[in-house]
Amino acid sequence: MKVCVIGTGYVGLVTGVCLGEIGHNVICVDNDEKKIKMLKNSIMPIYEPGLENLVKKNTQSGNLSFTTQIGNAILSQDIIFICVGTPPLPDGSADLRFVEEVAKEIGRNLNSYKIIINKSTVPIGSGDWVSMIINDSVATGNGIDNGANHSGNKNAAAIFDVVSNPEFLREGTAIYDTFFPDRIVLGSASQKAIDLMIKLYEKVINRRFEQIDSLPDSKGTKNIPLVKTDLVSAEMIKYAANSFLATKISYINEIANICEKAGADILKVAKGIGLDSRIGARFLNAGIGWGGSCFPKDVSALTKIAAEYGITTQLLNSAINVNNQQRLKMVQKAQETLKIIKGKTIGVLGISFKPNTDDTRDAPAITIMNNLANLGAKVKAYDPIVKESPESLNQKVILCFDTEEIFSGSDLIILATEWEEFIGLDYEKLGALMRDKNFIDGRNFLSKEKMQSLGFKYSGIGI
Ligand code: UDX
Repeated sequence: MKVCVIGTGYVGLVTGVCLGEIGHNVICVDNDEKKIKMLKNSIMPIYEPGLENLVKKNTQSGNLSFTTQIGNAILSQDIIFICVGTPPLPDGSADLRFVEEVAKEIGRNLNSYKIIINKSTVPIGSGDWVSMIINDSVATGNGIDNGANHSGNKNAAAIFDVVSNPEFLREGTAIYDTFFPDRIVLGSASQKAIDLMIKLYEKVINRRFEQIDSLPDSKGTKNIPLVKTDLVSAEMIKYAANSFLATKISYINEIANICEKAGADILKVAKGIGLDSRIGARFLNAGIGWGGSCFPKDVSALTKIAAEYGITTQLLNSAINVNNQQRLKMVQKAQETLKIIKGKTIGVLGISFKPNTDDTRDAPAITIMNNLANLGAKVKAYDPIVKESPESLNQKVILCFDTEEIFSGSDLIILATEWEEFIGLDYEKLGALMRDKNFIDGRNFLSKEKMQSLGFKYSGIGI
């Protein structure tokens, strides 16, 4: 099928390349000429394991191409994915300017029946809003005889259907999550559109795609469950899923904070409750909490959507508060450990909001480092992938390019992101470089016993 993906960020680029991988003809569009030039040369604008190989493979096969010419791409393709950003506005609601601009462009280039898919996380009711914008754009005259418009009447209802097909991709495992989703959600008022979407995803649904490097074999795995529903329910599924996962993390962090005072071990508590099939073991890792470009944005947007109906989201507001407090808790721990922060040297392991990504948006590590720098500490940071100081990071923070620099002369080390690389460090050698061997493990990632046996004054979260 002929697919156009508008927006080549984490969601758009992964969606486009994976649809190319299952045999569709995909044109990825972005208004960022620099990004498109990079992609045309198979240079990745983002770090996502396995992405580069798939882009190269599908560009070479001709299934995948990149352009800044949005109009031509819409004209030539039938399935149009909207994958542009919906970043939070200062009041926490979603910024829909980019979605609106794309919807207008689609209306200007509707020359035949098309399916318009909202892949970007958009507020509840956005599907109808996108329809309205497209229709208005057609009505104001797109100059194209779209077949159903024989009388030349620019006010004929445009020939398209809108589908909500929310993504559940986790950064760092986005390609795996595309080929091994727990479910595919399709929301639309049009059965025709739903049927075409099922055809589009057929090879993923029925597990009939070729083996992909770095992914497990799909042979014998169960067909993917479909959730076919209306537009609003599909949009709500995305917000409800992310908000639940974020609340689950804040829940375990609140329990960890109690454990820490009561002398209980959160790792054992999390295991003990996670084995209950009604709770489930995943997303029960206590630590400095959630960040990234999704949880903070989506939870906040859902509280704003609720407020529009006069609903106060007490549970979600508490999940946000607990999460904000977890970061500040690390600063308090540093103060308890060092007594005086000013003039002390603190090394931080990990900048990205989670491992296997270069994304530093709303990363807990950045909040922590900014607070410590503002308290007068000399702060150093190291990340396996992030090699440029993010704009949101206090420019006084020193970016290091190896872990020895981080430990050398430091009074305290804080592990903020659980990169696999940090498991295998030679902590005996690195500890000897420190001025004082304090270690706070913000992700309970390392072995408390091992670190203490190496002479570290080790503390975690709830252990
Ligand atoms: C999330 C959702 O998982 C995904 O389905 C959605 O499409 C996009 O948002 P992502 O933000 O990439 O994905 O990362 P995720 O792996 O979900 O982690 C989110 C945050 O929670 C990270 O900061 C992570 O460090 C934190 N986290 C996760 C915990 O603190 N504890 C956990 O047990 C799991």
